[in-house]
Amino acid sequence: MSVILSIKDLRKSYAGGFEALKGVSLDIEEGEILALLGPNGAGKTTLISTVCGITTPTSGSVTVGGHDILTDFRAARSLIGLVPQDIFLEPFEKVWNTVRFSRGLFGKPRDDSKLEEILKKLSLWEKRLSPTKELSGGMKRRVLIAKALAHDPRVLFLDEPTAGVDVELRKDMWDIVAELKASGVTIILTTHYIEEAEAIADRVGVIRGGELLLVEEKDQLMQRMGRKQLEVQLTDPITEVPASLAHLNLELGQGGGSLIYTYDTRAERTGITALLNEVAQAGLVLADVQTRQSSLEDIFVGLVSEDVV
Ligand SMILES: Nc1ncnc2c1ncn2[C@@H]1O[C@H](COP(=O)(O)OP(=O)(O)OP(=O)(O)O)[C@@H](O)[C@H]1O
Ligand SMILES: [Mg+2]
Repeated sequence: MSVILSIKDLRKSYAGGFEALKGVSLDIEEGEILALLGPNGAGKTTLISTVCGITTPTSGSVTVGGHDILTDFRAARSLIGLVPQDIFLEPFEKVWNTVRFSRGLFGKPRDDSKLEEILKKLSLWEKRLSPTKELSGGMKRRVLIAKALAHDPRVLFLDEPTAGVDVELRKDMWDIVAELKASGVTIILTTHYIEEAEAIADRVGVIRGGELLLVEEKDQLMQRMGRKQLEVQLTDPITEVPASLAHLNLELGQGGGSLIYTYDTRAERTGITALLNEVAQAGLVLADVQTRQSSLEDIFVGLVSEDVV
C-alpha cells in the first residue's frame, strides 16, 4: 500500500488568532477508509477544508498523490472529491446539470455514461431532471456525493455524510462507501455517529481541540482500549462484596444481586476461572453469568472527556 495523502505538522489559525489546528500529522494509505471522530469544534471541518484548498494553512504541508496542495494546487485538487458538511446546491438547476458542471469544473471532458453510472449508483437517476430544490434532504446529500464523484477523484472527503439522514439512508450510504472503496477510492469521513465508524472504518482518528489524539486501526483500538465485563448473577443478593474477594476489585451490581468483574481483553489470563472459584468459595451461589464488551463509543467518550494535558 502506498501513501496517497500526507499531512505534516498542519497548523491553522483563523483571523483573530484562534488556533483550530495545532500541528496535525497524518498519512493515509491508498484505498483505506479513515473515520475522523471528535466533538463539535474539534477541527475536523477545518482539517478537511485545508486539505481541499478551501482554507489556507498557516503552516505545515499537505501532499495528495505526491502533489503539494499549495505549489501544485491543480494536480492535487483534481485527485480530491469533497462532500461538504453544509448542503449548498443551486436550487433551480436540474440534478443532471449540477453534476455535469462539477465534472466540467475540473476540465474533464463530458462523459454522459459516467454521469449515468454515478446517478444510478446513488439512486438519483429517476430524479435527474428535477430541480435540486424539489429533492428531499437525503437526496440532496446524494447529489453532493454525485458532484464530488463527477471528476473521478481518488480521495473522497465526506464531512458528516449521514448527519440528519434516516437509518435506511445511512445504511445505503455505508454501502455506497463500501462500493467506492472496492473501486479503489480512498475515503476520509467525519462523523458523530460512532457506530458509523465502527461499521465502516479501517482506521479511526480522534481529534480534539485541534490536536489528533490518536490514529489507529479500528480493530486494534477496540482491542487495546476495549474492556470486557463479566457479571455474575447471584441467587441471593448481598449488601457488600465479601472481604475475601476484595483483591478482585469487584463492583456490586444493582440491588446487590450481582458482582461485576472488569478485565482486560488483551491479558493472557483473564482471571475468570479463579474468579468463579473464589466466588463459590465465598459461599455465594451463581445463578447466571453474562459478558459485555465496551463499544467504540465507550472508548471515544473516555478519550475526549479526559482532561487536556
Ligand atoms: N472561518 C472561521 N473563522 C474563525 N473560526 C473558525 C472558522 N471556522 C471554524 N472556526 C473555529 O475553529 C474551530 C474548529 O471548527 P471546525 O468547523 O473545524 O470543527 P468541527 O470539528 O468540524 O466541528 P463540528 O463537529 O461541529 O462540525 C471551532 O472553534 C470554530 O469555531
Ligand atoms: Mg465540522
